Amino acid sequence: MNQALTLAFDVYGTLIDTHGVIIALEKHVGNTAAEFSQMWRDKQLEYSFRRGLMKNYETFAVCTSNALDFTCDYFKAPFTQQDKNDLLEMYRVLPAFEDVKAGLVRSQEADFGLFAFSNGSADAIEMLLTNAHIRDFFLDVVSVDEIKSFKPNPDVYNHFMKRAASVSTNTWMISSNPFDVIGAVSSGLRAAWVKRSPDAIFDPWGIEPTLTVNGLSELAVNINKYLNENPI
Ligand code: 2OP
Repeated sequence: MNQALTLAFDVYGTLIDTHGVIIALEKHVGNTAAEFSQMWRDKQLEYSFRRGLMKNYETFAVCTSNALDFTCDYFKAPFTQQDKNDLLEMYRVLPAFEDVKAGLVRSQEADFGLFAFSNGSADAIEMLLTNAHIRDFFLDVVSVDEIKSFKPNPDVYNHFMKRAASVSTNTWMISSNPFDVIGAVSSGLRAAWVKRSPDAIFDPWGIEPTLTVNGLSELAVNINKYLNENPI
């Protein structure tokens, strides 16, 4: 295999759909389930950013659980502790987006070295990828937990390259999360933004993705096209 090019796939929100809990949430919060799910996700990320800045690390699962508590309080939702535990259990087996398998097959056929690279701890990511039947596409799972910080701390992108034995010009972050794309580009990596929804907005910081794709199925062909036009 030609491992000249290393792809670091973000997990939550890129491979795995964090809003896969919406149907279960509807039972508790009715037609505000989508809004609830979005706040839960936003708070989870906010807590990871804050813990990273404060150097007060707890796992991403703790950020997820604390964010669920906050969101339940905000919505004054009638969740019992058992309901919350059930939702957190569901979070461990969230589904993959529909375009993921085709995108991984094509990336593998293009001879790229594929890694999963996530805020989630290794055991959580192994479980998610295995449950979604996509674990075998990846050479390894790299977790920020190994250095007890979170994206977008530059240390975690450098840690990824160390683990993948890659260099920045040959390493691509593949993410639907603009903060992750900006973090990777700011650390010297290339990055593809996976913009599945036409309504998704990229943070207007002046730090742009190397590529934008509408889904993972078109990722490999676009990276190869980019490399042909911009040889390293
Ligand atoms: C992940 O690291 C950012 O949540 C995203 O999987």
